Amino acid sequence: MQAPWIPFIPPSASTLSDKVDALYFYLSGVTLFFALLISVVIIFFVIKYRRRSPYEIPRPVAGSHKLETLWSVIPFIIAMTMFFWGAQVYFQMYRTPDNAVEVYVVGKQWMWKMQHSTGQREINQLHVPAGRRVKLIMTSEDVIHDLFLPAFRIKSDVLPGRYTTQWFEATKPGTYHLFCAEYCGMNHSGMIGSVTVMNATEFDDWLAGNAAQQSPIVAGQQLYDSLGCASCHGGRGEGGRGPGIVGLFGRQVQLTNGQTVHADEGYIRESIENPQAKVVACFSPIMPTFQGQVTPEQLIQIISYIKSLQAPGQQAPAASPQPAQRTQSLEQTGNPAVNR
Ligand code: CUA
Repeated sequence: MQAPWIPFIPPSASTLSDKVDALYFYLSGVTLFFALLISVVIIFFVIKYRRRSPYEIPRPVAGSHKLETLWSVIPFIIAMTMFFWGAQVYFQMYRTPDNAVEVYVVGKQWMWKMQHSTGQREINQLHVPAGRRVKLIMTSEDVIHDLFLPAFRIKSDVLPGRYTTQWFEATKPGTYHLFCAEYCGMNHSGMIGSVTVMNATEFDDWLAGNAAQQSPIVAGQQLYDSLGCASCHGGRGEGGRGPGIVGLFGRQVQLTNGQTVHADEGYIRESIENPQAKVVACFSPIMPTFQGQVTPEQLIQIISYIKSLQAPGQQAPAASPQPAQRTQSLEQTGNPAVNR
């Protein structure tokens, strides 16, 4: 890896990292400039206006509106440039583009478990393609962790019972650090790993070469059957005593209390673990809780399966990097619901 021109600064390897750096250098530059200016002026005034004799009485000073206006307006303008520039970078970072490749991340004491949408699992390692957008959907099995990818300028808390997301587009092939950035117990400092950025074609080969594992969609479908979800939500998610789940993901859902919710990962997780919290309109609260019966990884698999159940003509929320492979692995299970 090429040494950076500033010591200790991480390499810049995502489409966002240069933007974050530019803002960071601007903030540092402004801070440094005013720190120096004020220090120099203080020293200058201390010398110039020092007391020359013990009996000296200083000249009275009346205020100056012109000066006060100036030193209020100029810092205001500078602060606003920081605000608008920062907000612009923030929105780019936290608004995930639609066509991102999804990777599930589960943190636990003390390791990172990753799973690609095609089923490949990795521990403390993440392989991603360069030049493609990658969305990380993250949760924790135990305590709060924090996924930190300094080369991509990405850092986000990973929380038990909740999903957080981050996205990036890596620009340069190479190997980069991956850290846990939240003190999470004795071996926190060992909760590290690496991100390998590969050329898109190499990545496709890598993904195809590791295709032995079951995709989260297939695993989720098996859980759907084995947990008895089908008895209420229908064998293919078409609904019954419980609401249908085909085309559920990303839709607005009407609740019995008159509110509507957006069906995202968090909503589906809550409906599985705490079904009484948000009951779908026109249905009775008969669903038992599955809290403690499914692990966070199994929850992710069930959510992947529900995501894959798209109504005819509906656009899938996230494109799989290799649709052909996904179809193939589903064909092996012979379920018609996900093959439409
Ligand atoms: Cu996980 Cu620190």
